[in-house]
Amino acid sequence: MTNKVFQAVKQIGYGAMGLEGYYGASDDTQAVQTLVYAIEQGMMIDTADAYGAGHNEDLIKQALQQINPQNQQPAFIATKFGIVFEEDQTGSQLDTGWGFPLTINGTKEYVTRAIDQSLERLGVDSIDLLYAHYLDPNTPLEETIAAMAEAVKVGKVKAIGLSNVTADEILRAHAIHPISAVQYEYSLFRREAESEILPAINQIGAALVCWSPLGAGFLTGQVQELDENDFRNNNPKMQGENFTSNLERLEAIKAIAQEYAITPAQLALAWLVAQGDNIIPIPGSRKISRIDENLKALDVKLSAETLRQLDEIAPIGAFKGATLV
Ligand SMILES: NC(=O)c1ccc[n+]([C@@H]2O[C@H](COP(=O)([O-])OP(=O)(O)OC[C@H]3O[C@@H](n4cnc5c(N)ncnc54)[C@H](OP(=O)(O)O)[C@@H]3O)[C@@H](O)[C@H]2O)c1
Repeated sequence: MTNKVFQAVKQIGYGAMGLEGYYGASDDTQAVQTLVYAIEQGMMIDTADAYGAGHNEDLIKQALQQINPQNQQPAFIATKFGIVFEEDQTGSQLDTGWGFPLTINGTKEYVTRAIDQSLERLGVDSIDLLYAHYLDPNTPLEETIAAMAEAVKVGKVKAIGLSNVTADEILRAHAIHPISAVQYEYSLFRREAESEILPAINQIGAALVCWSPLGAGFLTGQVQELDENDFRNNNPKMQGENFTSNLERLEAIKAIAQEYAITPAQLALAWLVAQGDNIIPIPGSRKISRIDENLKALDVKLSAETLRQLDEIAPIGAFKGATLV
């Protein structure tokens, strides 16, 4: 890994959002065990203050308290701020394409308060990597980044990142303070990041941390229909005719996985890892067995011919449904 911030972690991290029940019910005891396991494997843990309205960070605190003291692997926790989830806080409306707006706050006061609250909930002295989850449309980016940089200066945060931003915003932010990572949806399911965002990330030597690297489960081939409470019902790629057509396209990807005797999830992750050593997928799962399965993707080497075939099956925009965020 070219960026030193990530030298102590594996190239595949762990996304903790699904432990809040967005993609089906989750059990807290099992969730903490899963987090302990992921940390002990040397995976970066990805969370956000808004996941479960603070509850996800609480789960991570419990996991950190349970880590085997013999374990030499230090935990690496990345969290995010910016989505307003407390009733007494306000912000600006941001349309995300999910069918409902989010309220975002990137003011100096909000950022400073959010960092202190995340430190408290996580029970740590400093945050390894802090992202602005979304930029606040009504606060200059310069104010938000300056507040994050100040947190680095006083030792509350070690490195900073951005999420769901444009190439121009990446370059503007990096001119104020080094940006170590940009988090964006990236997988065979959604490759738009390759056009402008990835070149900007490469230009500044940052990592692309890929959210929904399994297409929120779609690329595993195990999502055929969704429960009515499932958050993925908001994703146009998983609605009606789009969903049917996308499932048809997935068959060719599943066939390649079969040729390699690996699971479609492993193929999706191996493809991401093959895109560069600064590409860090953060798949989420409620199950320890799937963490092992996903990590094994690091041992899969895809041939140049397979990468070419995958480009043909799933070029940018191949999967139907409006791009979100
Ligand atoms: N920055 C942002 O705006 C943003 C947005 C979304 C997500 N994220 C981050 O990215 C992380 C990952 O994204 P995500 O959770 O949306 O999607 P994902 O990792 O692409 O997919 C998660 C889904 O895949 C299933 N799964 C995982 N491994 C599997 C395997 N080997 N075989 C079959 N199914 C498997 C999980 O089910 P089980 O739990 O049943 O295994 C879950 O339903 C999140 O946890 C979060 O930290 C960030």
